[in-house]
Amino acid sequence: MESFNQEQNYFGLDLGNSSIKVAQLRELSGKPTLVTYGSIDMPENLLASDSPIDQDRVAEYVKQLASDANVSSKNVIASLPSTASFTSIIKLPKLSHDELGESISYQADKYIPIPINQAKLDWAVIGEYPDTGELSVLLVAAPNNIANKYLNIIQKAGFELLALEINALALARSLTIPTQTNSTTIIVDIGTLSSDIAIFTGQVPQIIRSIGVGSKALRRVVSQNLGLDETQADQFLKKFGLQQDKIEGQVYKTLKPVIDHVVEEIIKSIKYYMDKNPQSNIEKIILTGGTSALPDLPIYIANSTHLTVEIGNPWTNISYPANLQQNLASVSLNYATALGLALRNLA
Ligand SMILES: Nc1ncnc2c1ncn2[C@@H]1O[C@H](COP(=O)(O)OP(=O)(O)OP(=O)(O)O)[C@@H](O)[C@H]1O
Ligand SMILES: [Mg+2]
Repeated sequence: MESFNQEQNYFGLDLGNSSIKVAQLRELSGKPTLVTYGSIDMPENLLASDSPIDQDRVAEYVKQLASDANVSSKNVIASLPSTASFTSIIKLPKLSHDELGESISYQADKYIPIPINQAKLDWAVIGEYPDTGELSVLLVAAPNNIANKYLNIIQKAGFELLALEINALALARSLTIPTQTNSTTIIVDIGTLSSDIAIFTGQVPQIIRSIGVGSKALRRVVSQNLGLDETQADQFLKKFGLQQDKIEGQVYKTLKPVIDHVVEEIIKSIKYYMDKNPQSNIEKIILTGGTSALPDLPIYIANSTHLTVEIGNPWTNISYPANLQQNLASVSLNYATALGLALRNLA
């Protein structure tokens, strides 16, 4: 058990493709309280690279950031991108913890599209069917090569990896309200290389999907279609976004088909979920990830899905010094994962 009123003996580490983020919390008077947070920018493509030299460089960035942010622990819980993992929700009879583990390892190959001896498996009971008493179990598998790559980076940086958790689960912890166990929300994390889409009832995942669209793909189409270099394209993207009335809608028209990929995936996920849960009501979509700052994105997604769209605020359930308010608000979109990881043993 964690002791109270002490700094958590680990910190949350979000290895993103454009920046690494850390967050550390402690419990104070029953409330998760900020100990430290920080980020460091990294060249894109470094994290995605499989070369050992690049992994060493990522490890150097982790070390630098942990030192700059003054984290007070050697232990890490890190997030695994949803693209790098397979998840499945399976139904199992009510068994003891050990029996469940055994049963899952026998059956996992039915649910996981990679050979089981090449993957790291994790699972958690997430619910119980009231009619039959059967259990709903979330199964997560990460290919060994990816899990090992993360492990390697963290060890090289001089830290000990306590757990790897998929991004979506961390997001639910920082962006939804734990007591609202019946409400269904969709969290969409739009980053640099990918977008994660996850539907939750309370904090229990129902669907987790990931597609390869992020700011990099948006920058590329703006650069190609409008004949701009990368830097200019990035400026146009961030300044005009999906605003139809700016520069004759040129940026809007260029971005629309790419953003529509994300929207289609959201709509597909909703359909799939509603087919299985026809009584359910989706309350809202919560946007996070740096690319969610794209001008007019929330209104565009709201109009396309006919749902309420909100920008997620991962600081809501966390205490912090009042003088940090403005700084924290300005980085809300970037810290949902790191804070969700840091909340793991507190929430
Ligand atoms: N106003 C904006 N419009 C569009 N994109 C933006 C805006 N502001 C920041 N971004 C993009 O957000 C990205 C950073 O967001 P975030 O920190 O969520 O990404 P990441 O976690 O590093 O990426 P990934 O999750 O794909 O690994 C950058 O690529 C940046 O270009
Ligand atoms: Mg990210």
